[in-house]
Amino acid sequence: MKQNRTQAIPGYDYGEATVAASPVTIEELRRLEETVGWTEDDARWLRAAAETLVPQSERMVDAWRAKIGRQPHLSRWFAKADGTPDDAYKAAVKCRFVRWVSDICLRPHDQDWLNYQEEIGLRHTPAKKNQTDGGQTPSVVPLRYLIAFASVVITSVRSFLDSSDRSEEELKAIETAWMRAVLLSIALWARPYASEELW
Ligand code: HEM
Repeated sequence: MKQNRTQAIPGYDYGEATVAASPVTIEELRRLEETVGWTEDDARWLRAAAETLVPQSERMVDAWRAKIGRQPHLSRWFAKADGTPDDAYKAAVKCRFVRWVSDICLRPHDQDWLNYQEEIGLRHTPAKKNQTDGGQTPSVVPLRYLIAFASVVITSVRSFLDSSDRSEEELKAIETAWMRAVLLSIALWARPYASEELW
């Protein structure tokens, strides 16, 4: 397990030299943002939504995990060769997934953010899966499931916003910003799965 001075969450090395350098340029990131429709307004809406979402981030991850747990073709990516769950691995990954809710809402889309998207992508592929936590699980989360699961992560956000007293218009703006941020992330996470000319 990687550790360093500034880490409170094991394996979470956002902004550190140990994170993969993204081969994607900031210029290309801006083009992708434009493609997904991401604007400064979206960044503002997510920063505002963080106050409601971040305190619920563990509940959000638990809900997504429960969905995965109910589908054996998904939960197997968290299981050892004998088919039993790798509980230590699941627990370690969960802490970083919980932290991701805060990051997607609050982190600026700068070079550190871009690098960590590359790192998250790599951690779903044979290049880095299992390495951070010494997991004993299959070496890849197939790209098709990464993409398809975005639907769950996107559509479920509304149920975590119900506790806020925002207007329908504001809730729609937050949902749209969240959708754009998730899709932008998945587009970047897909990079290590594709050959350079095809990404
Ligand atoms: C939109 C969909 C998804 C999101 C937002 C997401 C998010 C994340 C995040 C934030 C991490 C931790 C990254 C870090 O180390 O800092 C992670 C790791 C992981 N995710 Fe996903 N994920 C998605 C889809 C899936 C699916 C469908 C599966 C499999 C069923 C999956 C399995 C895993 C596994 C096994 C790890 C640990 C990888 C490792 O470091 O060994 N993910 N995911």
